[in-house]
Amino acid sequence: MITIDPASQTERDNYKLLIGSIIPRPIAFVTTRSEDGVLNGAPFSYFNIVSSNPPMISLSIQHAGDKRKDTARNILTAQEFVVHIVDQHNVEKVNQTAANLPPEQSEVTLAGLTPVDSVNISVQGVQEAQVRMECTLERHMDFPGCDLIIGRVVQFHINEEIYHEGRIDPYKLAAVSRLAGNDYAAVGEIFTIERPR
Ligand SMILES: Cc1cc2nc3c(=O)[nH]c(=O)nc-3n(C[C@H](O)[C@H](O)[C@H](O)COP(=O)(O)O)c2cc1C
Repeated sequence: MITIDPASQTERDNYKLLIGSIIPRPIAFVTTRSEDGVLNGAPFSYFNIVSSNPPMISLSIQHAGDKRKDTARNILTAQEFVVHIVDQHNVEKVNQTAANLPPEQSEVTLAGLTPVDSVNISVQGVQEAQVRMECTLERHMDFPGCDLIIGRVVQFHINEEIYHEGRIDPYKLAAVSRLAGNDYAAVGEIFTIERPR
């Protein structure tokens, strides 16, 4: 085995080890609204479940240089955002939204995504996702290089085609995940292992 002390190498070296080994990572496409009313959209793969009671998710938004990204800034001011599951149908457009646009320009418009009103919050989502979750800001942790956001899900929207008796069909959802660099992965073989009692 190769043994590496993270303190002995650069941030980029540690980044490559983390994003190359913590795979596959689910991807959230997150919409937020700026103070000027611009609908911002960007993908985030430092994304996961925090708890189901209450339903909460986490996003880690790295600083760009020494500045907070638009998504984090908007979440902190509006206290609301929408998380969409990235899938094989929307991933090309979502990838385009990772462009570094100035805050007054909407990545949603740039990528040709279709805004849709939310039910419980004032931030719009987009139609091009089979699952979207309206979230309110539950907690924020301000780290030197990133903003860790914990959101509480206040409304689920699910395409009825993928929903059966409370469960989501993973083949129909066709979620994609992030690997390192520009690589993505589709859901591969699904296998089942019985848990010991
Ligand atoms: C698939 C994918 C996943 C990404 N995941 C993250 C992430 O977890 N954290 C992060 O800070 N940036 C991530 N990025 C980069 C942001 O999407 C990018 O910096 C974006 O421009 C941020 O938008 P904003 O400035 O409007 O917030 C990811 C990019 C892609 C394409």
